Amino acid sequence: MSTTEPVEDRAAVLAGVGGWVPPHVVTNDDLSAHLDTSDEWIRTRTGIRTRHRVSPGMATSDLAVEAGRRALDSSGDDRAGAVVLATTTPDRICPATAPDVAARLGLAGVPAFDVSAVCTGFLYGLATAAGLIATGVAERVLLIGADAFTTIVDPTDRSTAVIFADGAGAVVLRAGRPEEPGALGPVVLGTDGTLSHLIRVPAGGSRQRSLAATHSPGEQFFQMEGRDTFRHAVDRMATASRQAVAAAGWSMGGVDRLAAHQANARILHAVADRLGIPAEHQLSNIAEVGNTGAASIPLLLAQSAADGGLEAGHRTLLTAFGGGLAWGATTLTWPKLSAG
Ligand code: COA
Repeated sequence: MSTTEPVEDRAAVLAGVGGWVPPHVVTNDDLSAHLDTSDEWIRTRTGIRTRHRVSPGMATSDLAVEAGRRALDSSGDDRAGAVVLATTTPDRICPATAPDVAARLGLAGVPAFDVSAVCTGFLYGLATAAGLIATGVAERVLLIGADAFTTIVDPTDRSTAVIFADGAGAVVLRAGRPEEPGALGPVVLGTDGTLSHLIRVPAGGSRQRSLAATHSPGEQFFQMEGRDTFRHAVDRMATASRQAVAAAGWSMGGVDRLAAHQANARILHAVADRLGIPAEHQLSNIAEVGNTGAASIPLLLAQSAADGGLEAGHRTLLTAFGGGLAWGATTLTWPKLSAG
Protein backbone atom coordinates (compact mmCIF):
# COMPACT_ATOMS: atom_id res chain seq x y z
CA MET A 1 0.00 0.00 0.00
CA SER A 2 1.11 3.55 -0.64
CA THR A 3 -0.07 7.05 0.22
CA THR A 4 0.62 10.30 -1.58
CA GLU A 5 2.78 12.99 -0.02
CA PRO A 6 4.42 15.33 -2.55
CA VAL A 7 8.04 16.08 -1.77
CA GLU A 8 9.60 19.23 -3.21
CA ASP A 9 12.67 19.34 -5.41
CA ARG A 10 12.87 15.59 -5.79
CA ALA A 11 14.28 13.99 -8.88
CA ALA A 12 14.00 10.42 -10.14
CA VAL A 13 17.55 9.07 -10.24
CA LEU A 14 18.66 5.97 -12.13
CA ALA A 15 19.87 3.38 -9.62
CA GLY A 16 19.87 0.09 -11.55
CA VAL A 17 19.54 -1.38 -15.03
CA GLY A 18 19.01 -4.87 -16.43
CA GLY A 19 17.98 -6.65 -19.58
CA TRP A 20 17.00 -10.09 -20.77
CA VAL A 21 16.15 -11.76 -24.08
CA PRO A 22 14.73 -15.26 -24.48
CA PRO A 23 17.40 -17.77 -25.55
CA HIS A 24 15.81 -18.78 -28.87
CA VAL A 25 17.61 -16.92 -31.69
CA VAL A 26 15.96 -16.46 -35.10
CA THR A 27 18.28 -15.62 -38.01
CA ASN A 28 17.38 -13.92 -41.27
CA ASP A 29 17.94 -17.23 -43.02
CA ASP A 30 15.46 -18.91 -40.66
CA LEU A 31 12.84 -16.33 -41.76
CA SER A 32 13.77 -16.60 -45.43
CA ALA A 33 13.00 -20.33 -45.26
CA HIS A 34 9.24 -19.62 -45.10
CA LEU A 35 8.89 -15.95 -46.14
CA ASP A 36 9.53 -14.25 -49.49
CA THR A 37 12.55 -12.33 -48.18
CA SER A 38 16.32 -12.69 -47.89
CA ASP A 39 19.15 -12.10 -45.46
CA GLU A 40 20.48 -9.41 -47.81
CA TRP A 41 17.12 -7.52 -47.95
CA ILE A 42 16.63 -7.62 -44.20
CA ARG A 43 20.21 -6.53 -43.43
CA THR A 44 20.30 -3.67 -45.90
CA ARG A 45 16.73 -2.37 -45.33
CA THR A 46 16.56 -2.78 -41.53
CA GLY A 47 20.07 -3.51 -40.18
CA ILE A 48 18.77 -6.62 -38.40
CA ARG A 49 20.73 -9.91 -38.48
CA THR A 50 19.15 -11.85 -35.64
CA ARG A 51 16.36 -11.47 -33.11
CA HIS A 52 15.08 -13.47 -30.14
CA ARG A 53 11.75 -15.20 -29.85
CA VAL A 54 9.81 -16.53 -26.87
CA SER A 55 9.43 -20.30 -26.75
CA PRO A 56 5.91 -21.79 -26.65
CA GLY A 57 4.26 -21.04 -23.31
CA MET A 58 6.55 -18.12 -22.50
CA ALA A 59 4.75 -14.79 -21.91
CA THR A 60 5.66 -11.13 -21.45
CA SER A 61 5.64 -11.48 -17.64
CA ASP A 62 8.37 -14.14 -17.90
CA LEU A 63 10.58 -11.70 -19.81
CA ALA A 64 9.70 -8.85 -17.43
CA VAL A 65 10.57 -10.84 -14.29
CA GLU A 66 14.02 -11.71 -15.65
CA ALA A 67 14.85 -8.12 -16.59
CA GLY A 68 13.28 -6.73 -13.42
CA ARG A 69 15.35 -9.05 -11.21
CA ARG A 70 18.54 -8.00 -12.99
CA ALA A 71 17.73 -4.29 -12.56
CA LEU A 72 17.03 -4.78 -8.85
CA ASP A 73 20.31 -6.72 -8.47
CA SER A 74 22.17 -3.96 -10.29
CA SER A 75 20.69 -1.40 -7.86
CA GLY A 76 22.00 -3.42 -4.91
CA ASP A 77 18.55 -3.52 -3.26
CA ASP A 78 15.73 -5.93 -4.07
CA ARG A 79 13.00 -3.60 -2.81
CA ALA A 80 10.80 -1.23 -4.84
CA GLY A 81 7.77 0.80 -3.78
CA ALA A 82 6.02 0.49 -7.15
CA VAL A 83 6.26 -1.53 -10.35
CA VAL A 84 5.41 -0.05 -13.75
CA LEU A 85 5.36 -2.29 -16.81
CA ALA A 86 5.36 -0.77 -20.30
CA THR A 87 4.06 -3.32 -22.79
CA THR A 88 1.88 -3.83 -25.87
CA THR A 89 1.68 -7.57 -25.31
CA PRO A 90 0.26 -8.06 -21.80
CA ASP A 91 -0.19 -11.67 -20.68
CA ARG A 92 -3.97 -11.15 -21.07
CA ILE A 93 -6.38 -8.26 -21.56
CA CYS A 94 -7.38 -8.16 -17.86
CA PRO A 95 -6.01 -7.73 -15.26
CA ALA A 96 -2.74 -5.89 -15.88
CA THR A 97 0.48 -7.91 -16.03
CA ALA A 98 2.50 -5.71 -13.62
CA PRO A 99 0.91 -7.07 -10.40
CA ASP A 100 1.93 -10.63 -11.41
CA VAL A 101 5.45 -9.44 -12.16
CA ALA A 102 5.64 -7.58 -8.83
CA ALA A 103 4.45 -10.64 -6.93
CA ARG A 104 6.96 -12.92 -8.65
CA LEU A 105 9.71 -10.49 -7.68
CA GLY A 106 8.66 -10.66 -4.02
CA LEU A 107 6.96 -7.25 -4.20
CA ALA A 108 3.29 -8.24 -3.67
CA GLY A 109 1.43 -5.35 -2.06
CA VAL A 110 3.08 -2.47 -3.92
CA PRO A 111 1.25 -0.36 -6.55
CA ALA A 112 1.76 -2.06 -9.91
CA PHE A 113 0.20 -1.28 -13.28
CA ASP A 114 0.80 -1.42 -17.03
CA VAL A 115 1.51 1.52 -19.33
CA SER A 116 0.34 1.23 -22.94
CA ALA A 117 2.24 3.46 -25.38
CA VAL A 118 3.60 0.83 -27.79
CA CYS A 119 7.28 1.46 -28.66
CA THR A 120 7.30 4.72 -26.66
CA GLY A 121 6.10 2.89 -23.56
CA PHE A 122 9.44 3.13 -21.77
CA LEU A 123 9.55 6.94 -22.15
CA TYR A 124 5.95 7.20 -20.88
CA GLY A 125 6.97 4.84 -18.09
CA LEU A 126 9.90 7.07 -17.11
CA ALA A 127 7.58 10.08 -16.78
CA THR A 128 5.12 7.96 -14.80
CA ALA A 129 7.83 6.62 -12.49
CA ALA A 130 9.20 10.14 -11.96
CA GLY A 131 5.66 11.23 -11.04
CA LEU A 132 5.29 8.41 -8.50
CA ILE A 133 8.55 9.54 -6.91
CA ALA A 134 7.72 13.27 -7.04
CA THR A 135 4.33 12.73 -5.40
CA GLY A 136 5.81 10.58 -2.64
CA VAL A 137 3.95 7.42 -3.69
CA ALA A 138 7.25 5.54 -3.90
CA GLU A 139 10.89 6.10 -2.98
CA ARG A 140 12.03 3.50 -5.52
CA VAL A 141 10.22 2.44 -8.68
CA LEU A 142 10.97 -0.60 -10.81
CA LEU A 143 10.16 0.31 -14.42
CA ILE A 144 10.18 -2.54 -16.93
CA GLY A 145 9.71 -2.45 -20.70
CA ALA A 146 8.83 -5.91 -21.96
CA ASP A 147 7.27 -7.17 -25.16
CA ALA A 148 6.67 -10.53 -26.77
CA PHE A 149 5.95 -8.97 -30.13
CA THR A 150 6.28 -12.24 -32.02
CA THR A 151 3.02 -13.32 -30.33
CA ILE A 152 1.05 -10.60 -32.18
CA VAL A 153 3.01 -10.37 -35.44
CA ASP A 154 1.59 -12.19 -38.47
CA PRO A 155 4.26 -14.78 -39.31
CA THR A 156 3.29 -14.50 -43.00
CA ASP A 157 3.68 -10.68 -43.15
CA ARG A 158 7.23 -10.09 -44.34
CA SER A 159 7.13 -6.35 -43.61
CA THR A 160 6.67 -6.88 -39.85
CA ALA A 161 7.83 -10.46 -39.16
CA VAL A 162 11.44 -9.58 -39.98
CA ILE A 163 11.53 -6.53 -37.68
CA PHE A 164 9.61 -7.20 -34.45
CA ALA A 165 11.00 -9.41 -31.72
CA ASP A 166 10.91 -10.26 -28.03
CA GLY A 167 12.84 -9.01 -25.01
CA ALA A 168 12.79 -7.01 -21.81
CA GLY A 169 14.75 -4.23 -20.16
CA ALA A 170 14.30 -2.59 -16.79
CA VAL A 171 15.54 0.25 -14.63
CA VAL A 172 15.24 1.14 -10.97
CA LEU A 173 14.61 4.81 -10.25
CA ARG A 174 15.07 6.18 -6.73
CA ALA A 175 14.26 9.52 -5.11
CA GLY A 176 17.23 11.86 -5.28
CA ARG A 177 18.37 15.35 -6.16
CA PRO A 178 18.18 16.98 -9.63
CA GLU A 179 21.93 17.70 -9.69
CA GLU A 180 22.97 14.05 -9.09
CA PRO A 181 24.35 11.92 -11.93
CA GLY A 182 21.50 9.70 -13.15
CA ALA A 183 18.79 12.31 -12.42
CA LEU A 184 16.15 12.23 -15.12
CA GLY A 185 15.90 15.47 -17.12
CA PRO A 186 12.62 16.94 -18.39
CA VAL A 187 10.61 14.34 -20.32
CA VAL A 188 9.08 15.41 -23.64
CA LEU A 189 6.04 13.34 -24.69
CA GLY A 190 3.49 13.61 -27.50
CA THR A 191 0.92 11.71 -29.56
CA ASP A 192 -1.03 12.12 -32.78
CA GLY A 193 -4.13 9.93 -32.75
CA THR A 194 -5.14 11.07 -36.24
CA LEU A 195 -2.47 8.63 -37.42
CA SER A 196 -3.37 5.69 -35.17
CA HIS A 197 -4.12 3.58 -38.23
CA LEU A 198 -0.42 3.48 -39.24
CA ILE A 199 0.40 0.96 -36.50
CA ARG A 200 -2.39 -1.16 -35.05
CA VAL A 201 -3.88 -4.47 -34.04
CA PRO A 202 -7.46 -4.04 -35.30
CA ALA A 203 -9.18 -6.86 -33.39
CA GLY A 204 -9.22 -7.97 -29.78
CA GLY A 205 -10.40 -4.72 -28.17
CA SER A 206 -13.88 -3.39 -27.40
CA ARG A 207 -14.50 -2.11 -30.94
CA GLN A 208 -13.76 -5.38 -32.62
CA ARG A 209 -13.68 -8.40 -30.35
CA SER A 210 -11.46 -11.20 -31.70
CA LEU A 211 -14.26 -13.73 -31.88
CA ALA A 212 -16.92 -11.39 -33.32
CA ALA A 213 -18.59 -12.36 -36.58
CA THR A 214 -17.18 -9.26 -38.33
CA HIS A 215 -13.64 -10.38 -37.68
CA SER A 216 -11.64 -10.96 -40.86
CA PRO A 217 -8.43 -12.95 -41.17
CA GLY A 218 -5.29 -11.11 -40.15
CA GLU A 219 -7.03 -8.53 -37.98
CA GLN A 220 -5.83 -10.11 -34.76
CA PHE A 221 -2.29 -9.35 -35.90
CA PHE A 222 -0.08 -6.29 -35.68
CA GLN A 223 -0.28 -4.20 -38.88
CA MET A 224 2.02 -1.38 -39.96
CA GLU A 225 2.20 1.07 -42.86
CA GLY A 226 5.98 0.90 -43.04
CA ARG A 227 6.85 3.77 -45.36
CA ASP A 228 4.71 6.44 -43.60
CA THR A 229 5.78 5.16 -40.22
CA PHE A 230 9.41 5.51 -41.25
CA ARG A 231 9.00 9.20 -42.14
CA HIS A 232 7.13 10.07 -38.96
CA ALA A 233 9.64 8.14 -36.84
CA VAL A 234 12.54 10.25 -38.06
CA ASP A 235 10.66 13.58 -37.77
CA ARG A 236 9.20 12.93 -34.34
CA MET A 237 12.32 11.51 -32.71
CA ALA A 238 14.47 14.35 -34.05
CA THR A 239 12.02 17.04 -32.88
CA ALA A 240 11.42 15.48 -29.45
CA SER A 241 15.19 15.09 -29.01
CA ARG A 242 15.81 18.76 -29.72
CA GLN A 243 13.08 19.74 -27.26
CA ALA A 244 14.42 17.46 -24.51
CA VAL A 245 18.01 18.65 -24.98
CA ALA A 246 16.90 22.31 -24.86
CA ALA A 247 14.68 21.69 -21.81
CA ALA A 248 17.65 20.12 -20.02
CA GLY A 249 19.79 23.18 -20.80
CA TRP A 250 22.16 21.04 -22.87
CA SER A 251 23.40 21.55 -26.42
CA MET A 252 23.23 18.82 -29.04
CA GLY A 253 27.02 19.00 -29.38
CA GLY A 254 27.29 18.08 -25.70
CA VAL A 255 25.41 14.79 -26.10
CA ASP A 256 27.82 11.87 -25.60
CA ARG A 257 25.40 9.01 -26.30
CA LEU A 258 22.16 8.69 -28.26
CA ALA A 259 19.95 5.80 -27.13
CA ALA A 260 17.10 5.80 -29.65
CA HIS A 261 14.33 3.23 -30.01
CA GLN A 262 15.78 0.47 -32.19
CA ALA A 263 13.14 0.59 -34.94
CA ASN A 264 15.29 0.25 -38.06
CA ALA A 265 19.00 1.01 -38.54
CA ARG A 266 18.16 3.41 -41.37
CA ILE A 267 15.82 5.36 -39.06
CA LEU A 268 18.56 5.49 -36.42
CA HIS A 269 21.11 6.86 -38.89
CA ALA A 270 18.62 9.43 -40.19
CA VAL A 271 17.79 10.66 -36.67
CA ALA A 272 21.48 10.94 -35.69
CA ASP A 273 22.20 12.74 -38.96
CA ARG A 274 19.41 15.27 -38.43
CA LEU A 275 20.67 15.95 -34.92
CA GLY A 276 24.31 16.16 -35.99
CA ILE A 277 25.26 13.36 -33.58
CA PRO A 278 28.25 11.35 -34.85
CA ALA A 279 27.67 7.66 -35.62
CA GLU A 280 30.14 6.58 -32.93
CA HIS A 281 28.00 8.31 -30.28
CA GLN A 282 24.96 6.27 -31.22
CA LEU A 283 24.22 3.15 -29.19
CA SER A 284 22.80 0.28 -31.19
CA ASN A 285 21.88 -3.36 -30.72
CA ILE A 286 19.29 -3.66 -33.47
CA ALA A 287 21.50 -6.04 -35.45
CA GLU A 288 21.25 -8.65 -32.69
CA VAL A 289 17.79 -8.05 -31.17
CA GLY A 290 15.60 -6.29 -33.76
CA ASN A 291 12.74 -4.07 -32.64
CA THR A 292 11.68 -5.19 -29.16
CA GLY A 293 8.97 -2.54 -28.62
CA ALA A 294 8.86 -1.07 -25.12
CA ALA A 295 11.93 -3.16 -24.18
CA SER A 296 14.09 -1.54 -26.82
CA ILE A 297 15.62 1.39 -24.91
CA PRO A 298 16.13 -0.23 -21.48
CA LEU A 299 17.57 -3.36 -23.13
CA LEU A 300 19.92 -1.15 -25.13
CA LEU A 301 20.95 0.72 -21.97
CA ALA A 302 21.57 -2.53 -20.09
CA GLN A 303 23.63 -4.07 -22.88
CA SER A 304 25.58 -0.86 -23.51
CA ALA A 305 26.36 -0.44 -19.80
CA ALA A 306 27.57 -4.06 -19.76
CA ASP A 307 29.76 -3.81 -22.86
CA GLY A 308 31.26 -0.40 -22.01
CA GLY A 309 29.43 1.55 -24.73
CA LEU A 310 27.86 3.58 -21.96
CA GLU A 311 30.02 4.83 -19.11
CA ALA A 312 29.54 6.96 -16.02
CA GLY A 313 29.50 10.63 -16.99
CA HIS A 314 28.12 10.14 -20.50
CA ARG A 315 25.43 12.72 -21.23
CA THR A 316 22.78 10.46 -22.71
CA LEU A 317 19.78 11.35 -24.86
CA LEU A 318 16.90 8.86 -24.98
CA THR A 319 14.22 9.03 -27.67
CA ALA A 320 11.43 6.76 -28.85
CA PHE A 321 8.62 6.62 -31.36
CA GLY A 322 5.86 4.17 -32.19
CA GLY A 323 2.16 3.36 -32.49
CA GLY A 324 -0.29 5.98 -31.31
CA LEU A 325 1.42 7.65 -32.95
CA ALA A 326 3.40 8.40 -29.79
CA TRP A 327 6.87 9.78 -29.21
CA GLY A 328 9.12 11.01 -26.46
CA ALA A 329 12.62 12.00 -25.38
CA THR A 330 14.56 12.75 -22.23
CA THR A 331 18.12 13.17 -20.96
CA LEU A 332 20.27 11.91 -18.13
CA THR A 333 23.93 11.79 -17.24
CA TRP A 334 24.81 8.11 -16.94
CA PRO A 335 25.59 7.30 -13.29
CA LYS A 336 28.07 4.78 -11.88
CA LEU A 337 26.12 1.51 -11.93
CA SER A 338 26.79 -2.18 -11.98
CA ALA A 339 25.16 -3.52 -15.17
CA GLY A 340 22.50 -6.19 -14.67
N1 COA B 1 11.70 -8.75 -47.77
C1 COA B 1 11.69 -8.43 -49.08
N2 COA B 1 10.94 -7.43 -49.56
C2 COA B 1 10.17 -6.74 -48.69
C3 COA B 1 10.14 -7.04 -47.31
C4 COA B 1 10.95 -8.09 -46.87
N3 COA B 1 11.00 -8.45 -45.57
N4 COA B 1 9.29 -6.18 -46.71
C5 COA B 1 8.81 -5.37 -47.67
N5 COA B 1 9.32 -5.72 -48.86
C6 COA B 1 9.08 -5.13 -50.17
C7 COA B 1 7.73 -4.48 -50.28
O1 COA B 1 6.73 -5.42 -50.54
C8 COA B 1 7.96 -3.55 -51.43
O2 COA B 1 7.82 -4.27 -52.63
P1 COA B 1 7.10 -3.59 -53.90
O3 COA B 1 7.97 -2.42 -54.25
O4 COA B 1 7.13 -4.70 -54.88
O5 COA B 1 5.74 -3.19 -53.43
C9 COA B 1 9.42 -3.15 -51.30
O6 COA B 1 10.01 -4.11 -50.40
C10 COA B 1 9.62 -1.78 -50.71
O7 COA B 1 8.71 -1.64 -49.62
P2 COA B 1 8.80 -0.47 -48.63
O8 COA B 1 7.74 -0.63 -47.56
O9 COA B 1 8.87 0.82 -49.34
O10 COA B 1 10.23 -0.80 -48.01
P3 COA B 1 11.05 0.04 -47.01
O11 COA B 1 12.38 0.29 -47.51
O12 COA B 1 10.24 1.20 -46.50
O13 COA B 1 11.23 -0.98 -45.81
C11 COA B 1 10.27 -1.35 -43.66
C12 COA B 1 10.09 -1.53 -45.15
C13 COA B 1 9.04 -1.93 -42.95
C14 COA B 1 11.52 -2.07 -43.22
C15 COA B 1 10.42 0.16 -43.37
O14 COA B 1 9.39 0.87 -44.00
C16 COA B 1 10.42 0.50 -41.94
O15 COA B 1 11.35 0.18 -41.22
N6 COA B 1 9.42 1.25 -41.50
C17 COA B 1 9.34 1.74 -40.13
C18 COA B 1 9.35 0.64 -39.14
C19 COA B 1 9.16 1.17 -37.80
O16 COA B 1 9.86 2.02 -37.38
N7 COA B 1 8.17 0.65 -37.14
C20 COA B 1 7.78 0.87 -35.86
C21 COA B 1 8.08 2.05 -35.18
S1 COA B 1 8.13 1.40 -33.63
